[in-house]
Amino acid sequence: MASFAFILAHAMVLLVLILSSFNSFAKHGYSSTRHHQHHRHHPTNKATINPRLQQAYVALQAWKKVIYSDPKNFTSNWIGPSVCNYTGVYCAPYPDNTKIQVVAGIDLNFADIAGFLPEELGLLSDLALIHLNSNRFCGILPQSLANLTLLFELDLSNNRFVGPFPSVVLSLPTLKFLDIRFNEFEGPLPPQLFAKKLDAVFLNNNLFTSVIPPNLGLSSASVVVFANNKFGGCLPPSIANFANTLEELLLINTSLTGCLPPEVGYLYKLRVLDVSSNKVVGPIPYSLAGLAHLELLNLAHNMFTGDVPAGVCVLPNLSNFTYSYNFFCEEEGICMNLTSRGIAFDDRRNCLLEKPLQRTKKECSAVYEHPVECFDYHCGGSGTPPAPTPLSSPPSG
Ligand SMILES: *[C@@H]1O[C@H](CO)[C@@H](O)[C@H](O)[C@H]1NC(C)=O
Ligand SMILES: *[C@@H]1O[C@H](CO)[C@@H](O)[C@H](O)[C@H]1NC(C)=O
Ligand SMILES: *[C@@H]1O[C@H](CO)[C@@H](O)[C@H](O)[C@H]1NC(C)=O
Ligand SMILES: *[C@@H]1O[C@H](CO)[C@@H](O)[C@H](O)[C@H]1NC(C)=O
Ligand SMILES: *[C@@H]1O[C@H](CO)[C@@H](O)[C@H](O)[C@H]1NC(C)=O
Ligand SMILES: *[C@@H]1O[C@H](CO)[C@@H](O)[C@H](O)[C@H]1NC(C)=O
Ligand SMILES: *[C@@H]1O[C@H](CO)[C@@H](O)[C@H](O)[C@H]1NC(C)=O
Repeated sequence: MASFAFILAHAMVLLVLILSSFNSFAKHGYSSTRHHQHHRHHPTNKATINPRLQQAYVALQAWKKVIYSDPKNFTSNWIGPSVCNYTGVYCAPYPDNTKIQVVAGIDLNFADIAGFLPEELGLLSDLALIHLNSNRFCGILPQSLANLTLLFELDLSNNRFVGPFPSVVLSLPTLKFLDIRFNEFEGPLPPQLFAKKLDAVFLNNNLFTSVIPPNLGLSSASVVVFANNKFGGCLPPSIANFANTLEELLLINTSLTGCLPPEVGYLYKLRVLDVSSNKVVGPIPYSLAGLAHLELLNLAHNMFTGDVPAGVCVLPNLSNFTYSYNFFCEEEGICMNLTSRGIAFDDRRNCLLEKPLQRTKKECSAVYEHPVECFDYHCGGSGTPPAPTPLSSPPSG
């Protein structure tokens, strides 16, 4: 709350930053990959050098020392103690004492800087925003970031950060917006991530493995993007814990297997559901017919079988329903003619006898000869060894 008041109450500069970032969030929540805009401007600065700015000066100078390439000269004016005049550094009045200026935002989006994040960044304890989109920062996040107790937005997207999920972000009490997409983070996601009161989480295009944690906590996120990672395993039924807030769930190309759990249908606020390019099997859960706000549904490039249920095709706001490259064998009712509802669709490469551009009989019967029992399906993950199931325990002795 403190940081929220801080942000609302102060600093035009900060407001501009936040608005532009929310804009880009709204615009790029779906299908996007990078942020745009963010102006560089030079705030007028009458701040005298107080101890907090002095501390920021130490931090920023330490940072400049581990910047090895700055082709656009963002940091060339990072000289002297007037840190509020530095390009990309934004000051605002301190929440508890508005006579003091503090460093409240860092915006180095699109600076193409190569370097590290040093431990000294922990000295920037008044930061509400860090935007480092599209740079060449590498290495890992310093533990000292835990000191940024007012941090509201952290955008590290499109850099070269490596290592396990940066668990230091879990200790940031006021974080709402976490964007770490397009890096090289690897390994499993900590389940605690989803118990944090985040509004948006972008994890796409990393090297995360293992499974989407089965014990997802009660989440407050409206957008979660898992796309283009190697999670594997099934989508856990605990995804239902996101029901009160989730509007966009993007699971594109995440090596998902198994059936879609009926709990996906509990996500009653969903506008976008994209599970394309996975290995999902079994039927479309009928519960999806309850997603009244759904606008975009993409199931393409999986191994779905069975009917395309009419209940989904009549959803009031559905405008694009893509289910090509599966093994559907029947389109119920209006699903046969989605054009009549003005819905963009793609039903190619299924097993739909009356439709053009379908799979061969041979391909279809090969799949239908081995029907999937969702209930018995065994959900492994790429990072975990398959758990033995009672029916397939290895022969002993
Ligand atoms: C900081 O910028 C302001 C406005 O551009 C300018 O008047 C002031 O002299 C600068 N301060 C320093 C120490 O460079
Ligand atoms: C950055 O500064 C260097 C040296 O002052 C100059 O040669 C170069 O043109 C500048 N680059 C940009 C993009 O302003
Ligand atoms: C954390 O912030 C406090 C207050 O600004 C500062 O005194 C301290 O040195 C910082 N700690 C680290 C590890 O940077
Ligand atoms: C799918 O994700 C993998 C990483 O898991 C990535 O290497 C590959 O490029 C992605 N495919 C597409 C089409 O984005
Ligand atoms: C459908 O979309 C319209 C226009 O965007 C919107 O006003 C309406 O609330 C939506 N209905 C549902 C059920 O989401
Ligand atoms: C419908 O969605 C698919 C996949 O998300 C996309 O490729 C296609 O361009 C969309 N069609 C229209 C008409 O928006
Ligand atoms: C689909 O519906 C439209 C309009 O309702 C109609 O003109 C068209 O002939 C129908 N197509 C098929 C294949 O039934």
